[in-house]
Amino acid sequence: MKITVIHGQNHKGSTYHITQLLLKHFPEGEITEYRVNHLKYCIGCFNCIYKGENSCPHLEDIKPIIQSIEDCDLVIAESPNYCMGMTGQLKTLFDHMAYRWISHRPHPGMRTKIGVAISTTAGVGAGLTAKSITKQMFWWGIPKTYRIAAAVGAKSWEEVKPEKKSSLEKQIQKTARKIHKHLGKSKPGLKFTLLFKLMASSQKKNNWNPVDKKHWEENGWI
Ligand SMILES: Cc1cc2nc3c(=O)[nH]c(=O)nc-3n(C[C@H](O)[C@H](O)[C@H](O)COP(=O)(O)O)c2cc1C
Repeated sequence: MKITVIHGQNHKGSTYHITQLLLKHFPEGEITEYRVNHLKYCIGCFNCIYKGENSCPHLEDIKPIIQSIEDCDLVIAESPNYCMGMTGQLKTLFDHMAYRWISHRPHPGMRTKIGVAISTTAGVGAGLTAKSITKQMFWWGIPKTYRIAAAVGAKSWEEVKPEKKSSLEKQIQKTARKIHKHLGKSKPGLKFTLLFKLMASSQKKNNWNPVDKKHWEENGWI
């Protein structure tokens, strides 16, 4: 089983440690971890959308990460809550994946994957941050996602109280069990199926982006 982990920050704080605790439940996993702090932000050139993803000016840094997300069975993306949202650097990666949204050129392999979003916060906002990560995954076409969101009341993992850590371990264990149960058996739900149909009918009429339309035709979706 291949697992791709995207760390939304460089440092090893509470969010990073929770991710590592989750990974311990997958000893059989072939794990590839990425950091995103070095990524250049999307310049809004629209090259990926209209000319194809290989025209992205930041292709060299972006491509290996996106390739790994597409090749894996389980994708984990994490971020601390920064001002009620994910880190800017994680969002930068996601902005570079706009062309992979189901409104453009979703990767066909996404349909069988599981996504996990992990976030921590001092007080409030971890749920919101984790949700904004799973929202991205949904739009890439990942049908099954889980969230681990924790208010740790701390600015570092060392400061997190032992009782909080043990309740977190239980939450992580529960999530790991669900992932094991559903791995490789994910199926798109009703919301996704209807949305995909809507996108297909829009692609049939697509006279504005031949790159997107070709992708839908080549995959036999239209
Ligand atoms: C720039 C920045 C913004 C933050 N914004 C919030 C916030 O809006 N609400 C909150 O409760 N905690 C906020 N925090 C605290 C972190 O979310 C919290 O300490 C988190 O657990 C840090 O995770 P880490 O140890 O993985 O870095 C912020 C911290 C930083 C550095």
